[in-house]
Amino acid sequence: MAETSKIKHWAAAAHTVDQTGRTLIEVGGIEIGLFKVADRYYAWRNMCPHAAAPVCAGTVCGTKLPSAVYEYVYGRDQEILRCPWHGWEFDLVTGKHLADDSVKLRGYTLEVEDGQIYLLL
Ligand code: FES
Repeated sequence: MAETSKIKHWAAAAHTVDQTGRTLIEVGGIEIGLFKVADRYYAWRNMCPHAAAPVCAGTVCGTKLPSAVYEYVYGRDQEILRCPWHGWEFDLVTGKHLADDSVKLRGYTLEVEDGQIYLLL
């Protein structure tokens, strides 16, 4: 069985993601959002699994955490991506939908080297 090898594509200078927390790039005709959460970078395809919205243009925010009745606890600030069309929320670290973890953003492996971000496609 032939082994498939991935090709390393330059994506962005890390400081461009550091400045805003996100950058949208295009590689081979595919739009990909690069995000920084805490000290790590993540790459997600700019297509919502619900109805194909440009999800990476959505709001980066937090969400309501499980809490007691009549309590409102907000948390995970800057770790959640909210789709601009219908508001589905995705974990920027795992790509999973917050309410249904069988639904997930398409993710890409990346490497950071000498201040540059590369995608392995
Ligand atoms: S297209 Fe993203 S929530 Fe509907």
